[in-house]
Amino acid sequence: MMYSYLNEMVNKAAQALDFSYVPVSNFRVSACILTEHNRMIVGCNFENASFPLSVCAETSAIANMISSGSRSIRAILIMNNEAELCSPCGGCRQQIFEFSQKDTLIHLYGNGQLKKTLTMEELLPCPFHL
Ligand code: THU
Repeated sequence: MMYSYLNEMVNKAAQALDFSYVPVSNFRVSACILTEHNRMIVGCNFENASFPLSVCAETSAIANMISSGSRSIRAILIMNNEAELCSPCGGCRQQIFEFSQKDTLIHLYGNGQLKKTLTMEELLPCPFHL
């Protein structure tokens, strides 16, 4: 693969994909963050009987990253197993942006292959920041 870290991220994200909790949508998503210190931290979506309380995979991974002491995303891989690739929702773009640089890489992976790689700047042009 083009990126040396990608195989390991794919394996970790694939594990987390199985842990996702999706009784409402049956749409599994997982994410694996590579931090600036080269730690890999995963997350997956988990839903709730009260639908608006569901949490996206990216937010779940960011929560794990923050609560384990890292604050900077070098790359993030987002995985699903559907024909349609899972491009991060608007809210997740803003959440990823908060802990990224312009050149942070966003890898979209689905159905066993890397489908797209974007920079943070491409994923969320003209972002909101304080
Ligand atoms: N989902 C994510 O986990 N990440 C996204 O960027 C888009 C959507 C989840 C939310 C919900 O559990 C399921 O996918 C269907 O919308």
